[in-house]
This record gives sequence, C-alpha cells and structure tokens, in this order.
Amino acid sequence: MFNQFTPARLRDLVEGAAAVAGQTDLQAILATTVEIARDLTGAPHGALGVVGAHGGLIDFVHAGLDPDEAETIGAPPHGRGLLGLISKEGRTIRTDRISDHPDSSGMPPNHPHMESFLGVPVRAGPTLFGNLYLTDKEGGFTEEDEALVEALAMIAGTAIRTVRLQQRLQSLAVAEDRERIARDLHDAIIQDLFAVGLSLQGQALKVADPDVRRALEQDVESLDRTITSLRGFIFNLGAPPDEHRTLRSELRELVTRLAGPHDAEVNVAYTGSLDSLPQKVVDDATQLVRESLSNSLRHSNADRITIEIHAGDDRLALLISDNGIGFDPSAVAWGLGLTNLRERATRAGGQISIDSTTGSGTVVRATLPL
Ligand SMILES: Nc1ncnc2c1ncn2[C@@H]1O[C@H](COP(=O)(O)OP(=O)(O)OP(=O)(O)O)[C@@H](O)[C@H]1O
Ligand SMILES: [Mg+2]
Repeated sequence: MFNQFTPARLRDLVEGAAAVAGQTDLQAILATTVEIARDLTGAPHGALGVVGAHGGLIDFVHAGLDPDEAETIGAPPHGRGLLGLISKEGRTIRTDRISDHPDSSGMPPNHPHMESFLGVPVRAGPTLFGNLYLTDKEGGFTEEDEALVEALAMIAGTAIRTVRLQQRLQSLAVAEDRERIARDLHDAIIQDLFAVGLSLQGQALKVADPDVRRALEQDVESLDRTITSLRGFIFNLGAPPDEHRTLRSELRELVTRLAGPHDAEVNVAYTGSLDSLPQKVVDDATQLVRESLSNSLRHSNADRITIEIHAGDDRLALLISDNGIGFDPSAVAWGLGLTNLRERATRAGGQISIDSTTGSGTVVRATLPL
C-alpha cells in the first residue's frame, strides 16, 4: 500500500502516524487522528465516530466546525446512512457528492452543506471501533487520499488497541499487587501481632505487681487497636483502585453494558468542554443517564435512543430521548427509577423534566450546575 504515495505525502503520513502513535490516552488518539487526517487530505471537516452495539455512534469527535456551528446542528449524527454503510460493510466510501450517494440519508436542517466525502472504517484488532471521515475537499478526494487515510486509520486502530490493552494490564497489575500485599499483611503481620498479644495477656496473668500488670494490659489493648486499624487498612487495600473516570469513559462503558442485550440503536453525542468536570457531576450525570437509558431500553420498545451531553459554562445539560411508546408520567406508578432521577437532580441543585407522549416517545432533560 505504501509504494503508491509520492515521497512528500509518504513523509507526511509517517509524521502523522508518529503523532497518533505517540498519544497515550484514547481521547487524544481520536482527536489527533482527526487532525492528521484533515492535514493529510486538506479536507476542512473531519470526524471520528465510535461505533457501539447495533451500529449507533457512542462517541463522536469532530474538527473543522466552529463551536457555534456545531451547536446549531444540534442532534448528533446517527450511525445510519453513509456512516452506517461504512460500519456495516466495513469498507471505505468515497464520493464527490454526498447527496448523490444512494445510501445518503441526508443531513439535519442546520448542517452546513457538504459535498465530497471520504469515510474509512477504523478497526481495533478484529473488531470495528469506528469510522473516520472527511468532507468537503475542494475538487473531491483522490484515490491517493483514500489510501493515505486508510493507512492512517490502520495506525490509529493499532494505537487504540495498544492503549486499551495497556489500560487493562495496568489495572490488572495494580489489583494483583494490592491483593498480594493485603494477603501478606493479613497472613504474616496480623497473625504475628495476634500471637504477641495472646502471649502478653498470658504473662500479665502471672505478674504479681499490680502496676506492671496494668501496664502490660494496656499494651495488649493498644496492640488490639493496632490490629483493628490494620484490618481496616487491609480491607481498603483489597478494594479495586480508583481509576480516573471521565464522563466519556463512564458513559462509553455504561452504554455498551446496558444496550448490548437490546435491539435499540443508541447514539451518544457531546458538545462543549467535558475535560475536568468535577467527579460529583460525573457521578450524578452517569446515574441520570443510567436510569433514563434503562427505562427507555426496558419499557419504551424504541428502536432508537439518543443521549446528548452539553457542557456549558455553568451547567451540564443532559438529554435522553427515545422514539418508543411513551407514557403518562402523572398516571403510571413511579418506581425507583423516576423517583431517583428527580431526587438526584434536585439534590445536586439541578433541574429535570420528563416529557412523554403516548405513541411518539419520551424525552428526559436534566441540568446539573457546574
Ligand atoms: N422511556 C419510557 N418509555 C415508556 N414507559 C416508561 C419510560 N420510562 C418510564 N416508563 C414507565 O414509567 C414506569 C415507572 O418508571 P420507573 O423507572 O420509576 O420504574 P421501573 O422502571 O418500573 O422500575 P425501576 O426503575 O425501579 O427498576 C415504568 O414502569 C414504565 O411504565
Ligand atoms: Mg426504571
């Protein structure tokens, strides 16, 4: 594949590949891949969609639109149309006019008009990870562009796979280390201390001098306290280490786990800056999405569920909508789910609304203050 490139473009590809492979964090790999793909082809717009179960896009990283433009487009792209075709058939699609392509499902009303399109699948090992695509190159994308972006996608896929494996190994290694230390502490140190305590207690009984006896008894007590606090410490050691959890990584995991067994296509999209959200907000947002998504999956019979997360300056907005059967929130018996939703949002100082129409679906909107 590499001998078909002009030397200059081959050099750009190698440099770009090095930049992608040099990233150690998944989100950074995705963003760098999109940037490099734009540089390599000269396309003004680029994006990478992460494909979840049943073809939905569970994450979406784009570049080239200014934030206001992205905002007015609103809903995230779904994993259908051209994007769906890339995932489904696992092959590259290149066209000079998006609207001419038989699989094009059109664009949302506020989407800027886009002409040419180049989309390639990104595989992380044997499984499809997502789609890398570029639009609007003047004069259209060439065969060489296609080969370059395919090569880049291959390298990105390898980098993604490597990071995932590393993460898994790291947490395994840490967990194993902690377990071993906990076991050693328990087996060796606590048992020893315990034996010393027992022996001291025995000695104390034989001592006639009441002052010495009291001193010995106090030592035994302080040893007991030490053992108790060591036990607490060991118990904590056994617990899995706190990983750095971001809203994106939490939702990626949640959506994959909850939606997997169901047929509905779930799409997740983010706007605004999600870096450095407080952990409390990440937890609350994850729980709100969990309750709403689980309701949509279990009760609505929807075939499409959309999750939108928008980080503003002073609050985080969440929108979870389904196209299912809907219900009357004032008429059904509320279970734990709806009650928790309302309580959690309110306790966090945020707001929540549940709009549902029988026959056309449910929209849950929540905001959390930042
Ligand atoms: N997205 C939805 N589409 C259709 N019906 C819904 C939806 N969300 C909730 N409902 C209805 O509202 C009821 C109450 O929901 P709630 O989450 O409070 O309880 P639950 O899901 O039945 O049980 P729990 O959440 O405690 O496991 C549900 O039983 C269901 O009838
Ligand atoms: Mg529920």
